[in-house]
Amino acid sequence: MQAAAARQPMRRGIYDCNTIFCRQGLSLRRLFLRKEKNFKMKKSSWGKTADGAAISLFTLTSGKIEVQITDFGAHLVAVRTPDRNGSVADIALGFNSAEGYLNRPNAYLGSVVGRYANRIAKGHFAIDGKDYQVPINNGPNALHGGPEGFDRYLWKAEEVTNGVEFTHVSPDGDMGFPGTMTARVRYTLEGDTLRLGYSATTDKPTIVNLTNHVYFNMRGDDDGDILGHVVELNADKFTPVDGGQIPTGEIAPVAGTPLDFRTPKAIGERINQDYDQLKLCRGYDHNFVVNGQAGSLRQAARVTEPESGRTMTVETTEPGFQLYSGNFLNGALTGRHGKKYEPRTGFCVETQQFPDAPHHANFPSTVLRPGETMRSTTTFRFGAE
Ligand code: GLA
Repeated sequence: MQAAAARQPMRRGIYDCNTIFCRQGLSLRRLFLRKEKNFKMKKSSWGKTADGAAISLFTLTSGKIEVQITDFGAHLVAVRTPDRNGSVADIALGFNSAEGYLNRPNAYLGSVVGRYANRIAKGHFAIDGKDYQVPINNGPNALHGGPEGFDRYLWKAEEVTNGVEFTHVSPDGDMGFPGTMTARVRYTLEGDTLRLGYSATTDKPTIVNLTNHVYFNMRGDDDGDILGHVVELNADKFTPVDGGQIPTGEIAPVAGTPLDFRTPKAIGERINQDYDQLKLCRGYDHNFVVNGQAGSLRQAARVTEPESGRTMTVETTEPGFQLYSGNFLNGALTGRHGKKYEPRTGFCVETQQFPDAPHHANFPSTVLRPGETMRSTTTFRFGAE
């Protein structure tokens, strides 16, 4: 198996701003970012880790929406938005105490996933001819950075304009991955938009793929399934998978398949069709290729929930995203309002590099080298109509 090493360069330094500034680790946005008029942030105590370290919960409000984030795993705990009548609901699946996030399994509700979101075939990869083996935790494959991924650590929090930035230093060899990695996730709230800015550096050649695994149910997290949500994807192509949900390497057109969401369609409309890709994944659990230039912030998905009128637009600089219809939620987790999270009661748009990129020379490279900075941005814009 060959590493992605010598292929296309990582999208380092590319950001939704002037490239020269970004190469210096700055962005024009950051330089000129103004404090939002109605922005408020509150920090509260939220229990302790198994080691007795204090966990905090950050509540951010913009006057329009409210989000909560914890420094444990940099989890996005809650998103509260009004419907078309102004009635506010929790639209992100989550737990009402830190225990839900400390316990396993927790389906990665709101988790920041690293070092490598999604799957790596057989947990093996090579960089510059050197082999690495990371733990197998999903059938024969590695999933979401291994059993003790970035979602299992207390991150260091720092207040920034309109939000909070979390930093985690993962030591060389952590979960089998080479290089000391410093990862940062900055959450900011600007009016109706939640922005996630990710960055990572390393001191040895390594691979990286960071995402947030937040599940949405725009009816309200305790209000039934997500099958009636209407989805429009800015994606002409996807990466088909095999029985272990590993990409075959093909980059296939969505045209003529139930993965064609180029015009708005309800998630549930074709989810049970007799189509091999849906059957292999028990529904939608596929990486879509975002149209347009990776590195520039462009629309990935727009979702509307017809009854509440809530809308969500997801934009990203990443090359892809996983549309996941919550197929593996099985009623084992109890959400913050006391309801069990049954199959398909939440969906994710996990913006990401392509799964298993180290094994596919035709996928964008996920190799990160010393001296480079991986940067990516994803925004979630919430509304009602
Ligand atoms: C990702 C994967 C899914 C599943 C969830 C976690 O979305 O693609 O197959 O493993 O994470 O339950």
